[in-house]
Amino acid sequence: MPYVEVLSPNTKYNLDGLEAAFEVFNHNYPAFSTTHKLDELRATEYGRLDRQGQVYLDFTGAGLYAESQLREHLELLAGEVFGNPHSRNLTSMAMTNLVEKARNYVLKYFNASPEEYEVIFTPNATGALKLVGEAYPFGPGDNYLLTFDNHNSVNGIREFARSRGARVTYIPIQPPELRVYAHELEKGLKLARPGKNNLFAYPAQSNFSGVQHPLEWIEQAHAKGWEVLLDAASFVPTNRLDLSRWHPDFVAISFYKIFGYPTGAGCLIARKEAVKKLKRPWYSGGTITFSSVMGFNHYLTPGPAGFEDGTVNYLTLPAVEIGLKHIESVGIDLIHTRVMCLTGWLIDQLVSLQHSNGKPLVRLYGPINRYMRGGVVEINFLDRNGSLIDCNEIEKLANTRGISLRAGCHCNPGGREVALEFTQDEMVECFSNKDKITYEQFLQVIETKTTGALRASVGLVSTFADVYKYMNFAESFVDRVAPL
Ligand SMILES: Cc1ncc(COP(=O)(O)O)c(C=O)c1O
Repeated sequence: MPYVEVLSPNTKYNLDGLEAAFEVFNHNYPAFSTTHKLDELRATEYGRLDRQGQVYLDFTGAGLYAESQLREHLELLAGEVFGNPHSRNLTSMAMTNLVEKARNYVLKYFNASPEEYEVIFTPNATGALKLVGEAYPFGPGDNYLLTFDNHNSVNGIREFARSRGARVTYIPIQPPELRVYAHELEKGLKLARPGKNNLFAYPAQSNFSGVQHPLEWIEQAHAKGWEVLLDAASFVPTNRLDLSRWHPDFVAISFYKIFGYPTGAGCLIARKEAVKKLKRPWYSGGTITFSSVMGFNHYLTPGPAGFEDGTVNYLTLPAVEIGLKHIESVGIDLIHTRVMCLTGWLIDQLVSLQHSNGKPLVRLYGPINRYMRGGVVEINFLDRNGSLIDCNEIEKLANTRGISLRAGCHCNPGGREVALEFTQDEMVECFSNKDKITYEQFLQVIETKTTGALRASVGLVSTFADVYKYMNFAESFVDRVAPL
């Protein structure tokens, strides 16, 4: 039984124009025709989407898994006896071998040399980011530099930096594209202090606007004395990250965002040289070779195990290799091509929509073309008078058509604040009484600042029909007046 109210496929849509639109689309985006393999894959491995009439446009929230990934994983588990790794008995060693195999496969997938990089398994990208934040040796005179455009799990590292006396600096992003100006980057990078610890963190792709910040920044930052933490969580599902070409010190990833299953598994891919600098604030089971109560001391396990607290999520890790192989069998470049064709079309269509009085129906946050961006389309709908329509209301209405969109700021407050033109004074003012009021009272103060925007994100098995149906839905707001 499905867990959501399901529509019979294609009800509530006017699909009369779909074929004609598809013809024009194919003409304007000829590369799409090279990706038909993915339509077949959608039918064979992701048939549940169309059986349920689901229009899934939240690939930046989570990727979707192929049925064969589940089968392969379950067959493995059903056919073998696996024990907790970290021991020398047979069943433990069988598991350890598979965990190490998965670890090596991650390096291979990202073309990372085992001499240069190691893979530390974590529960998710956030877990990877926290490992860096808590162990980076921030102190007085050190720097943490980051872009406005960042997920909260990267913003949160500022609390480690700040509490240990390091300076925290944000590099602004500029509307309407929500990119960083070159001179602002240079200004930020100049802050590095020689001989001190300097960490620069940014997302390879914004989960808010879809902007891709240049990977060239990595070398630029290295040259100025920074270590680089690359948040690749929303980049790698639809883009190639080649770690023989780019050499960030730390890369954070969640596997479910790439291939849907398993959840609860992510990793930190770290340069071995950079890892030497990290100082774990504690130790635990699994991370030490020896610990003594009487001696009041311990030895940390060298390599990734020194960062993997307790028992790793060992039964799921073989599914990471299965997932990566699945993506390889499809081809990440093919996925990228398809995603960019659909994104280009969706943006073209959305920004051309107008009310009958000629006013635009949509405000786009982020690049209007396909240059240096990914498959994230962030918008707000405007009513016929030019007022914003509450994105949460639109998300709810999309549900009634089986369309999964995401409303809010997606844990990227800097993206929201710049996109929606909040000012620093306003935001600081909101927090001025933080210690004297309750959270409920704070919510009233910040009332107008909690809205966000509406994100559609396309991925691995998105089809033209998916984005067409979203357009069809968008058109239903022509000439509407807010509140709906
Ligand atoms: C850019 C980016 N970074 C980090 C994360 C955090 O990922 P997780 O919640 O899997 O730890 C996300 C999740 O949406 C993301 O989009």
